Amino acid sequence: MLFFNFVCQVEPRDWAKLEPESSMENGDRKVSQTVTNKKMISKNSIFLISVVLASVTVEVEASDSLTLTKAPSNEKNRDFTWRQQAIQKLWEERKAMGHTPLRKFPIPGMPDVDLIFKDESVTKIGSLKFRFGWALFMWALLEGHIDQNTTVYEASSGNTAICESYMTKLIGVPFVAVVPDYTEDTKVNHIKEYGGKVLKADIAARFGKAALEAEKNHGFYMNQFANAHRAEEFHESGNGELESVNVMHEIVQQLKSQNLKEPDFFIHAAGTGGTISSVGRYVQKYNLDTKVIMADPEFSIYYDYVINGKFMNESGASLWKTPGMAGIGFGYAGPAILGQTSSLQPSVVNGAFKLPDIASTASMHVLREYGISGGTSTGMNFLASLSLAAKERSKKSQGPLRIVTLLGDPGTVYESSYYNISWIKQKFDFHGGLPVFDCWKDVIRNSFTKGSDPLAVGSELCSKEAVKDSASRRSKRETNFSAKFRSVL
Ligand SMILES: Cc1ncc(COP(=O)(O)O)c(C=O)c1O
Repeated sequence: MLFFNFVCQVEPRDWAKLEPESSMENGDRKVSQTVTNKKMISKNSIFLISVVLASVTVEVEASDSLTLTKAPSNEKNRDFTWRQQAIQKLWEERKAMGHTPLRKFPIPGMPDVDLIFKDESVTKIGSLKFRFGWALFMWALLEGHIDQNTTVYEASSGNTAICESYMTKLIGVPFVAVVPDYTEDTKVNHIKEYGGKVLKADIAARFGKAALEAEKNHGFYMNQFANAHRAEEFHESGNGELESVNVMHEIVQQLKSQNLKEPDFFIHAAGTGGTISSVGRYVQKYNLDTKVIMADPEFSIYYDYVINGKFMNESGASLWKTPGMAGIGFGYAGPAILGQTSSLQPSVVNGAFKLPDIASTASMHVLREYGISGGTSTGMNFLASLSLAAKERSKKSQGPLRIVTLLGDPGTVYESSYYNISWIKQKFDFHGGLPVFDCWKDVIRNSFTKGSDPLAVGSELCSKEAVKDSASRRSKRETNFSAKFRSVL
């Protein structure tokens, strides 16, 4: 049964009371504290007088150059200069980024639907992670986690590491990426191209390894899974149209420039959850009329985490099955804890799809046949968009149903894996192998040309059992499907 359920409305927040900030430079601070102490002297007891005087005496004795009438030289300013230069480089990079294009993708079977891909594959580093890499570095620089002597470490499935390698080269510090042992050579080479070093580890072990290496070598573990959540705040920079790297900000500006309203739906797959949460927060903050929908792989725990509030302290590791959809989903490394192991904020996601991995892979192939060559998240986004469009288009009373999704990275990165038929045959043997893969391709093509719901149809026709018996596959009617792969919208 399909059902419509807008989950987790955002609650109004209690904002922390802000204290006025000191505008004083560091060097002035000690002197000013001494002045404050002097004021206290007149008010407080003899005991306090002696304590305060003692501390003043110690300070004077501890430094030859310090007198009460002369401020100490401001040693810390040296760090600030480097940091300011690094931040300036980030802003210049942001200006050079411009906007990634919106590509309208007509669906012949659903002429009343506007499916739009925001093409993040054209960024300088070739993926949507350009924004997050940028924001992570802005956050880490502003909060003092990185200085000119810091080596940055990261655990990544590749794209974030590529961006971080680029950013470290830009600001002039070393970088070490810990990637899953099966990571495609194309991604590894791209990391190295910008000077980053690459270590390989088991997908679940890479977090611990990155943290350990950073600690051992006195470096900084960026930890995108925990900190995309924090970096999100640094996406936005007031009203400047180009300065915000929030992808939804760009989408809204670009649609506005064509006199179009915000989309009815935004769909995206989650890895760290940073991207979809940044969109969800933006939608809530500016009260946009957009529903934010997540596409989740088959063995990931994010669907349950968002929809049913599960896996916040229980591990999903035993459920995980390789190969998964590279860079997407979570569960292989313990529970989903916001700000620790994940940046996915369930309260800003309105609904979710759970998609079979073999169907998402078939979707990458079908999309490529129709002219868009994308990676794992793009295939998932396309499949979820077709299913959502089939369900929702009749409900729109005025104008086309507008869905915006992301083309996260290019297909070229996955030639040796998700676009390689022998690889698919071997890795998806457990899922029914090529016959099931081909079945999903047929169903998705059919959805594209005729407007049917690919998940509803494929759930029935493309199960391992149904595919074994192709005669029964043809005779079954599309409407009586099992809801094994379900959606909650
Ligand atoms: C191509 C691609 N799409 C989607 C994602 C998931 O994005 P996020 O980590 O922001 O959830 C990733 C993550 O690395 C990715 O590389």
